[in-house]
Amino acid sequence: MFTRMDEGSTEEWLEIRELTLASQRQVADRIIPMLEWLRHSVDGYAVDQLTHSLQTAARAEADGADDELVITALCHDIGKFVSTANHASMSAEVLAPYVRPELYQLIQHHQVFQGAAYNHHFGWDPDAREAYRDEPWFDLAVTFADDWDQMSFDPDYPTPPLAHFEERLRAVFAEPRITK
Ligand SMILES: [Fe+2]
Repeated sequence: MFTRMDEGSTEEWLEIRELTLASQRQVADRIIPMLEWLRHSVDGYAVDQLTHSLQTAARAEADGADDELVITALCHDIGKFVSTANHASMSAEVLAPYVRPELYQLIQHHQVFQGAAYNHHFGWDPDAREAYRDEPWFDLAVTFADDWDQMSFDPDYPTPPLAHFEERLRAVFAEPRITK
């Protein structure tokens, strides 16, 4: 096997590609513990971030969202595994190869849309989302923020367990759209 990339043979590179694709199934095995870790993130909210994520996904499901959107909702705050400050971008990038482009945009910008619920408390613009009014995913982002995300801090909501979503999560993360 080569020790520097520019000396690799086609045969070696094809083998690496095959092994890389074979290990793809492990992505979901890593996503699940990241989501489970979110139970340790509370920061003063009425529910932990895993519960919040499960409720967000459950509300999407209840409103008839397709599997890709339900799993996007489940993973929309997964970046908080590392840091809340840039979690929207990290969550979007985790999802990027596995969901349609509008769902990537939805998560990339979800904090701006969610801000309509609380920005005024901090002296920030509650209408900041209006900058995206002409985007094709604007209405979905409003639904996501207003009806699913910001609603999902309720200790009394019948929160499904992570196992409820596991089969769909594994299906969504089974195959990246970009394999280059
Ligand atoms: Fe959220």
